[in-house]
Amino acid sequence: MSGHDLPFELPAVGLGTWQMWGRAAERGVCDAIELGYRLIDTAAAYQNEEAVGAGIRSSGIDPGELLVVTKFPEEDAGREREILRTSLDLLGVERIDLWLVHAPLDAAGSLRIWERFVEAHEEGLVRAIGVSNFLPEQVDDLVRASGVVPAVNQIAFGPHYYDADVAPHHAAHGIVLQAHSPFSENNLAHPVLRAIADRHGCTVRQVLLRWHRAHGVSAVVKSVSRTHLTENLDAAGHPLAPADVAALDRLGFNPTPGQRA
Ligand SMILES: NC(=O)c1ccc[n+]([C@@H]2O[C@H](COP(=O)([O-])OP(=O)(O)OC[C@H]3O[C@@H](n4cnc5c(N)ncnc54)[C@H](OP(=O)(O)O)[C@@H]3O)[C@@H](O)[C@H]2O)c1
Repeated sequence: MSGHDLPFELPAVGLGTWQMWGRAAERGVCDAIELGYRLIDTAAAYQNEEAVGAGIRSSGIDPGELLVVTKFPEEDAGREREILRTSLDLLGVERIDLWLVHAPLDAAGSLRIWERFVEAHEEGLVRAIGVSNFLPEQVDDLVRASGVVPAVNQIAFGPHYYDADVAPHHAAHGIVLQAHSPFSENNLAHPVLRAIADRHGCTVRQVLLRWHRAHGVSAVVKSVSRTHLTENLDAAGHPLAPADVAALDRLGFNPTPGQRA
């Protein structure tokens, strides 16, 4: 079984760009880089790769200092190379740092896409390849059939659907977990979350990002506000007490009915 090690570390917080378009996306990406973000997450399906690329260039950052993640839309199976070339052109970069299969198909369909990913990686068009929204059993199928382990699985990972088995499963394969939607997929009004935030004098969103950090899982967060971007980047720098982490973990097994965001 050939492992596929990630040749770089994922920063605790990266910039998500879903639903950011045009000038707002360009400015948001540029602001985020200026404020210290070093990972930008986009996808062919977001239809913003050109604006994201423009934002990267207007920041003036050395491309070697930035990690660019984009995703291949699984519904375009069979057109992997064409879509990759388009992503490279639109983003205006020579290589994608991390190329993800946006979501699984059935086992045979995911395998066909994955074989094209492996080729692109071997040719050096992408630094690392991974998947997104794959369940542990879908990861197992892919690894068993291809013999190549995804470097990353980007999934919705938060207290309100916390499954204690997922991280150990991925760690056993050597797969790095990356969380998407840390705010939009969680219940920001949950009383346990609010109580922890009140006790620490911080926001519920900061508690969530600290919870991700406690689990060793990096997160991609979308914001077009400089204030929010700064708050989110700062949040992950502060640890959360183990008792608070455990209290939040339990929400996954006992969400407040009807309050899930
Ligand atoms: N792989 C996948 O299938 C998948 C699926 C979903 C998302 N993603 C990725 O994950 C990223 C994040 O997920 P998301 O965009 O769904 O949502 P999110 O990052 O969980 O939440 C974004 C929302 O929170 C607000 N926000 C951010 N920081 C804030 C703060 N400090 N205070 C108050 N409000 C704040 C943003 O508004 P402002 O802009 O006004 O700050 C925006 O409305 C996406 O952008 C995308 O890159 C991937």
